[in-house]
Amino acid sequence: MAKLAPSILSCDFSQLREELLAAEEGGAEIIHVDVMDGHFVPNFTFGLPILKAVRKILPRVTIDVHLMTDNPRLYIADFVREGADMISFHLEASADYSLIVDEIVEYGGKPGVALAPGTPWQCLSPILDKLYYVHLMTVHPGFGGQKFIPGMEDKIASLRQEIRRRGLSTEIEIDGGVNDQNIEYLASCGASIIAAGSLVFAHQENIAARVRMLSEKIRPY
Ligand code: DX5
Ligand code: ZN
Repeated sequence: MAKLAPSILSCDFSQLREELLAAEEGGAEIIHVDVMDGHFVPNFTFGLPILKAVRKILPRVTIDVHLMTDNPRLYIADFVREGADMISFHLEASADYSLIVDEIVEYGGKPGVALAPGTPWQCLSPILDKLYYVHLMTVHPGFGGQKFIPGMEDKIASLRQEIRRRGLSTEIEIDGGVNDQNIEYLASCGASIIAAGSLVFAHQENIAARVRMLSEKIRPY
């Protein structure tokens, strides 16, 4: 059963509370929080204060923190302490990724490693069994509202095949460029967590109804 993870990057921050509560009312079980440092990616977003606010507004939801930062190791403990349930960092940002995964587990988080579109999933082959999720970027990290990069479907499908072959239960999260036309197909390729920002929040329509409709589309997979 694939799940939708609305990304607050596309929220109207003057309405953060209302929009988060609407997402929850629509059945969202996971909220995606994009942390950008203006260095690993050419954009800034937010950090711990916003994570704390999301946790306060939604005490029960699973919070999925996506660290797009250099030196991710510096931030793991604080983010897990302040409410991150799932936390991923970029393989491209850290030579000591296996150690960071162990630290996330020690702190009580569910570890994920995020891969930029050009990084093959095979780089994670040696540590696949330690990961709660593999986080596949389907756009270049840094901005919401970009176009899905063609070919990423094959990366999702081959990773899913390998996870099945090894008998693992690793989740595959995809992130970026998900739209009304491709969401169901991407779930059918093997994505089990689908992060979506503009698709959920950048519409005039009712957010709860949109989350419900999108979640229903991907639930059968
Ligand atoms: C981009 C972020 C994404 C972003 C996706 O670097 O990691 O999580 O919110 O935005 P959309 O769904 O609009 O492509
Ligand atoms: Zn993200």
